[in-house]
Amino acid sequence: MKRAILSSALSLSVLVASSCVAAQPSAKPDLAKGQAIASQACAACHGADGNSPTPANPHLAGQVREYLEKQLHNFKVAQGNKPERDNAIMAGMVANLSTDDMRNVAAYFAGSKLSGGVSRSRELVFLGQKLYRAGNPATGLPACAGCHGPTGAGIPSQYPRLAGQYAEYTLAQLKAFHDKRRANDTNRMMRSIAAKMSDTEMRAVSDYIAGLR
Ligand code: HEC
Ligand code: HEC
Repeated sequence: MKRAILSSALSLSVLVASSCVAAQPSAKPDLAKGQAIASQACAACHGADGNSPTPANPHLAGQVREYLEKQLHNFKVAQGNKPERDNAIMAGMVANLSTDDMRNVAAYFAGSKLSGGVSRSRELVFLGQKLYRAGNPATGLPACAGCHGPTGAGIPSQYPRLAGQYAEYTLAQLKAFHDKRRANDTNRMMRSIAAKMSDTEMRAVSDYIAGLR
């Protein structure tokens, strides 16, 4: 009798323990597995350490981990539906990644060091700095710093790093939010911001961000 109670208490605790594990899949990321995926599947475009060799592909090094993970999920075509972030190249890249793979590779790139970039346009960089720090009160544009941080390092877990990114990529994303081709931003945060920006403002702030550190 005593044994029966003990064993049912035991199996109950096993049940509780295993259901806890099932409800919390976000175990510690495995950086070695993340690095293996990065070197096999991502390095050609994003660099083995997330410092991308060309402006066509964004840097991933030092990016906010949760943001990277969210993007990988957003690129995925689920049940034949259009992905939340529509990009043909990245849809192919994430097609075979599991949730664990995404967590591991995101953590690997997040922990890598970004080399950083430079601002190129002397005329635009001051306008860019003004917009980044203070927005544009005349059009109701908020300061980028409010959400992305004063140095552009991002604010985990929701707000991505911008600092040091290729100006070409940042500009392309601002235009995509502006035209609503990119629509995976929670509460339309970036779509409503980009809608308020002129072409010159988008170029200026992208150039400033490239040299921000
Ligand atoms: C053939 C080139 C190519 C390969 C290989 C590739 N990517 Fe990409 N990746 C891109 C391009 C291009 C973009 C920009 C997409 C856009 O404009 O929206 C991108 C965007 C991303 C983003 C979004 C970054 C941001 O700041 O929002 C993440 C995250 C990402 N890639 C992760 C990966 C991972 C992880 C792998 C490997 C499993 C990988 N990529 C392999 C080309 C590539
Ligand atoms: C109210 C908060 C908020 C403000 C203010 C804000 N952003 Fe964002 N931004 C976000 C969020 C949230 C995301 C992530 C969207 C997602 O999950 O894909 C983002 C994403 C971005 C991205 C995409 C990054 C990437 O790696 O693809 C760019 C570029 C960007 N913001 C630029 C700006 C600029 C420039 C400004 C100022 C003019 C600005 N943001 C102001 C919240 C904000």
